Amino acid sequence: MYLGIDLGTSGIKVVLVDETETVRATHTEALEVSRLHPGWSEQNPEDWWQATLRAIDSLAQSHGPALAAVRGIGLSGQMHGAVLLDRAGHPLRPAILWNDTRSEAECRLLEERLPNLGQITGNPAMPGFTAPKLLWVRTHEPDVFAQTAKVLLPKAYLRYRLSGEMIEEMSDAAGTLWLDVGARAWSEEVLAATGLPLSAMPRLVEGSAPAGQLSDDLRARWRMETSPVIAGGAGDNAAGAVGLGAIRPGSAFLSLGTSGVLWVTTDRFRPNPEAAVHAFCHAIPGLWHQMGVTLSAAASLAWWSRVAGEKEATLLQNLPEAPSAPSEATFLPYLSGERTPHNDGMIRGAFLGLSQDTTRAAMTQAVLEGVAFSFRDCLDALRSAGTEITEADVIGGGSRSGTWITILASVLGLTLHRLADGEHGAAFGAARLGRLAATGEDPATLCTPPRRLSAVAPIPALQEAYEARLPFYRALYPAIKGARTA
Ligand code: XUL
Repeated sequence: MYLGIDLGTSGIKVVLVDETETVRATHTEALEVSRLHPGWSEQNPEDWWQATLRAIDSLAQSHGPALAAVRGIGLSGQMHGAVLLDRAGHPLRPAILWNDTRSEAECRLLEERLPNLGQITGNPAMPGFTAPKLLWVRTHEPDVFAQTAKVLLPKAYLRYRLSGEMIEEMSDAAGTLWLDVGARAWSEEVLAATGLPLSAMPRLVEGSAPAGQLSDDLRARWRMETSPVIAGGAGDNAAGAVGLGAIRPGSAFLSLGTSGVLWVTTDRFRPNPEAAVHAFCHAIPGLWHQMGVTLSAAASLAWWSRVAGEKEATLLQNLPEAPSAPSEATFLPYLSGERTPHNDGMIRGAFLGLSQDTTRAAMTQAVLEGVAFSFRDCLDALRSAGTEITEADVIGGGSRSGTWITILASVLGLTLHRLADGEHGAAFGAARLGRLAATGEDPATLCTPPRRLSAVAPIPALQEAYEARLPFYRALYPAIKGARTA
C-alpha cells in the first residue's frame, strides 16, 4: 500500500492506493485561510499538521490493516508558501501563501538587484513566489527575519513533522525563485540577493527519490508493519501531472482548482519570463515543464457563489450545457491579482457590460467565461514560448461542470478530455511518487494516464463568437490598470 498526502489550500487530502493502483480509501480535512489585510493570505503550519494527523488517524480507524501495510508515502503541496523556522525548528510566524500578493514592491527590488534573474530561475519575480515574501519579512518584520534559520515550503514542513528531516524536491523548489532551474540546484546568487545563506535551504532531492522515513512514534501510532519511506514528492501541479501520466514531453493538462493552471511537460528547461510563463522542474528526473497560471479559477466561482448567496451547483444548473452565445457581461477574474500574462499582484477583478436586463445566470456565465479567457491568455503565452498544444486533459474541482468545459474548449480552440478518477489528482500522484521511492520502479512504466471518459471539442459557432469577444476582453486589463493608477 502507498499513502498520498496532498496539502491543499482548502484542505488536506489523504489517499491509500494499493499495488493495482486502486484507491482503497480517501479522507479530507478542511483548512481555513486567514486574510488579515487585502491581498494577504496566511495559514498556520500547526493547523496543517493537526489536520494531517486527524486525516491519517481517520484512515487508521476506517482502514487500519490497509494503512498498516503502507511501504511508501508521497507528499504533494500547495506551492510557493513560506514557512519560516527558528533554530529549534519552530515556526516564527504564520505561513505566507502562494496567493498572497503583499510583496509586489519586493519583486521589483529583486529584479533591479539581479537583472539576470529570469535566466537563472526561469521566471520573473512574482509576489506569489517565496523569495520576494522573505524580502518583505526582512523589511517589515526584521526581528522575525533575523531569527529565521530555515525556510521550508508547505509540504516540506509536513515532511519535517513526519520524519524530523528538512528536505525539498525540485518541482516545488523551482517555485521559490531561489533555484537555478536548469541546473536543478539552489542559486547562492539569488539567495544572497534576499539576504539568505545556503544553510537556510533544505537539502534537495528528486521527487521520486527517497527523502526521509516516518518517525518511530508515528509508525507506532498508525501500527505500520515496516517503516515507510517518504518520497521527495512534488508541488501540487507536478503531483497532478504524475497522477495523470503527464511525464512525456508535450503532455498537457488544464487544472481547474482554486487557481487555474495550463501545464505542458518539456524535455529541457524552456523559460519565457517576458510572458510570465512559469518554467519549473518536473518531479521526475530529467524533465521540466512550463505552465501558465491564473490565480482565481474555481476561486472565482466560489467567490461569485458567496456573493450571489446561492450554491455553486445551483448557479451551474441554471446554465445550458452549451451556451448559444457569449454572455452580455464580461468578468475579469483578477480577484487575487494575476500571474500569466500580466504578473500584477495589485490588479483586481471586474464585471463589465452590465445592463438593466442582466440576470444572475448571465453573470454566472460571465464568470466561467472570464476564467476561460484568462486560460486563453495562458495558452497564448505558452505559444509565445514556442509550445504548441492541441488537446489537454482537465482536472480539478471545476472539471465537474460540463458547461465550463464546453466554454473552455470553445474559448481555447482545443479538444478537452474529461477523465475517470481525475478527482484524486495530486494526492494520487503523490502516492505514485511514494511507490517510486519505495520500489525504485521505472516512472514510465508506473505513470500511465487514466481512462479518458469523453472528449469535448470546440463548438464552431461559439468558438467564432468567443474569438470575436477576445479583443474586448484583452482591452480591459490595460483600461482598468490605467484607471486605477490615474
Ligand atoms: C502554482 C500555484 C498554485 C498553487 C495552488 O504556481 O501557485 O497552483 O500551487 O496550490
